[in-house]
Amino acid sequence: MIKKIKIDKAKEVQQLINSAAEQGKVLERSLNYIYENIRDFRVYLEGERIVGCCSLHIVGWQSLAEVKSLIVDSDFRKKTIGTQLVQDCIKEAKILGVSKVFALTFFPIFFKKQGFELIDKNSLPHKIWTECLNCKYFPDCKEEAVIIEVK
Ligand SMILES: CC(C)(COP(=O)(O)OP(=O)(O)OC[C@H]1O[C@@H](n2cnc3c(N)ncnc32)[C@H](O)[C@@H]1OP(=O)(O)O)[C@@H](O)C(=O)NCCC(=O)NCCS
Repeated sequence: MIKKIKIDKAKEVQQLINSAAEQGKVLERSLNYIYENIRDFRVYLEGERIVGCCSLHIVGWQSLAEVKSLIVDSDFRKKTIGTQLVQDCIKEAKILGVSKVFALTFFPIFFKKQGFELIDKNSLPHKIWTECLNCKYFPDCKEEAVIIEVK
């Protein structure tokens, strides 16, 4: 079941994100980051346990939003949880009137299966590079940019 979260779940979400970050799959997040961006997050619950998370972050004024911190616990992968989390972000983007959703990812095939298209990273707003500048992989990052129009 997909649910938005309250702040008391921030630590559990951080653990999920940072375990994937240790493997270099996503960016590490501080607890403060999770608290400040708690409204962006949704989680997938298996019983009481958080086994997946994903955030949708509005980027500036260009009717654009980013899918970030998408992780499914390794014991629960390939059961469509990741797809459901991304689709929930797209649903929210539509509700908010956002016209395009993008992601920076090492796993573009996963997004292409959902209708996203590869684009040149440089075509994205400069604002997104602030985070990249603080990343240990910058400037040799192999992440690719994918985008989808939401109607
Ligand atoms: C990417 C991730 C969220 C996918 O979650 P998931 O719940 O396994 O995804 P789904 O079950 O919805 O899979 C969707 C499709 O991707 C495929 N897929 C999922 N994980 C895969 C993998 N590691 N390698 C190859 N294909 C994979 C599935 O087989 C499925 O394809 P199908 O519909 O043709 O069967 C998950 O692998 C993960 O947490 N990875 C580590 C963190 C990460 O890379 N996050 C993405 C950063 S943007």
